[in-house]
Amino acid sequence: MALTFEEYYGDGLLRLKQVEVFLLHLVYQYPAQEDPDGVGPVLYCKSRIKQPDSMMRKLRMHGLPTDGKTALEQMHDAVGIRVVCAFVEDVYRVSQWLGMRPEYEIAATKEYIAYPKPNGYRSLHLVLRFHTGIQAEIQLRTIALDFWAALEHQMKYKKNIAHEKTICDELKRCADEIASVDMSMQTLRELIRHEGWED
Ligand code: GTP
Ligand code: MG
Repeated sequence: MALTFEEYYGDGLLRLKQVEVFLLHLVYQYPAQEDPDGVGPVLYCKSRIKQPDSMMRKLRMHGLPTDGKTALEQMHDAVGIRVVCAFVEDVYRVSQWLGMRPEYEIAATKEYIAYPKPNGYRSLHLVLRFHTGIQAEIQLRTIALDFWAALEHQMKYKKNIAHEKTICDELKRCADEIASVDMSMQTLRELIRHEGWED
């Protein structure tokens, strides 16, 4: 029988849930007046507390004890928030804003948008460390990049794929095309904004 969240994280579960709710509220609080178009830059967020099974697998891979206490101390993604924005500039604006809060410090930034992973994965990750000791991972990306990541994630679990090299190449090509479309959409937005000023 798999462990429940309560059994695995113990007293830590409440603190994880508090951080999860705090971050979801925070992200949606980004003031719309700071956005050039007067609309919020966040389309939607998703959040999760990492499943005990999945956390234990990760700890085992790192050669660490697999208990919940070690998970909270050693792993930074027991709480995960995914922030999906419309445009690339929104991603950076929200991430800068998230970097200015007093409740936590940014323990790490992983820049997979400017420096994509070899498979084409693009996303901006922030690792937060709260003063309570709880850590959280925020993944920020555009809706186009989220489309790719969601489908790639789904396909990774399909084993025994023939022509694996061809599939990886094709996935990478799709990722690069999507990034290029993101740039075009960003340019269009700027053009439309500029038109507005001339009215
Ligand atoms: P884990 O990958 O979680 O073991 O941690 P890590 O320290 O290697 O961090 P990394 O930045 O590589 O990944 C953190 C998270 O980003 C993952 O758990 C995924 O949610 C997401 N991610 C990273 N790489 C990929 C990828 O190639 N495809 C997809 N779909 N998601 C990815
Ligand atoms: Mg990884």
